[in-house]
Amino acid sequence: MSSNCKKKVFVTRRIPQPGLDMLQERYEVVINPHNRVLNKDELIDGIRAADGLLCLLTDEITAEIMDVNPNLKVISNYAVGYNNIDVAAATQRGIMVTNTPGVLTDATADLTWALLMAVSRRVVEGDALTRAGRFMGWDPMLLLGSDISGKTLGIIGMGRIGQAVARRAVGFDMKILYYDKAPVPEAEKYKAEFVSLDELLQEADFVTLHAPLTDETRHIISRRELQLMKRTAYLINTARGPLVDEKALVEALQEGIIAGAGLDVYEYEPRLTDGLAGLPNTVLLPHLGSATLETRTKMATMAAGNLIAALEGKRPPNLVNPEVLQD
Ligand code: DGY
Repeated sequence: MSSNCKKKVFVTRRIPQPGLDMLQERYEVVINPHNRVLNKDELIDGIRAADGLLCLLTDEITAEIMDVNPNLKVISNYAVGYNNIDVAAATQRGIMVTNTPGVLTDATADLTWALLMAVSRRVVEGDALTRAGRFMGWDPMLLLGSDISGKTLGIIGMGRIGQAVARRAVGFDMKILYYDKAPVPEAEKYKAEFVSLDELLQEADFVTLHAPLTDETRHIISRRELQLMKRTAYLINTARGPLVDEKALVEALQEGIIAGAGLDVYEYEPRLTDGLAGLPNTVLLPHLGSATLETRTKMATMAAGNLIAALEGKRPPNLVNPEVLQD
């Protein structure tokens, strides 16, 4: 095919090369040349001439942005969560939207456990103390944390990632409670018990969030919910920041309403709510849930595969708005 009739694809940030190779073999590909998130004007400029868009969870793809290009056929999100895209607006405009489910489940569940263990066993505080030359020998009272084995884990959102977190909890002999819109049959494999949100918050020693961000789940954890938690309990969030009212969380951590928090995501990402960074009873990561080379590479090839299928007139394997294909 001569280059002047190749379809055009815009990629909003460099992703692992195998995904880019798949696109570059077929299409004229423009990649954001900057090592940063594009602003709205830059996004619009890139989308204007594209048949396909490969974007990130940091790109807000609104109806206004879609309207700059009536020829846009597909928005392939490089993430499982797609709350950054106005899917209803895309469907109205006949644009397919795809995501990358499954391939990041284990990496995100692993990082959830890394945060849970780091905050409850004070790993980051211990590392800082040691590096600062303040380790003066074994001390019976130094940096006492909390047991994990045998405790109760409360999982909010028992989808793929919630289940992978539960699977790991079995090895820690934990009692597992979960809350979702309805009971999830797979949860029985882990002897996880379906309970109300309030019951979960009152009983769990660790509360971990794995729900998608929607109008119903925004601020699912706010002051009232934090007050229901045990004073000895920890909150872990590797899902989406706005599930938590971050100001209420900072206050709860300052006032000792809960024991600590392990966070990978933030309400106003990448900005942190005032006071959060100064709290010793938190472990704060820069949205690393899926950040392994293997996983990010699988996400890249999956996102590219979705985009290619759509541009070749096929149904993409991970289409989130199948209604777009109905007449
Ligand atoms: C996702 O895919 O939604 C994750 O947050 C990316 O790490």
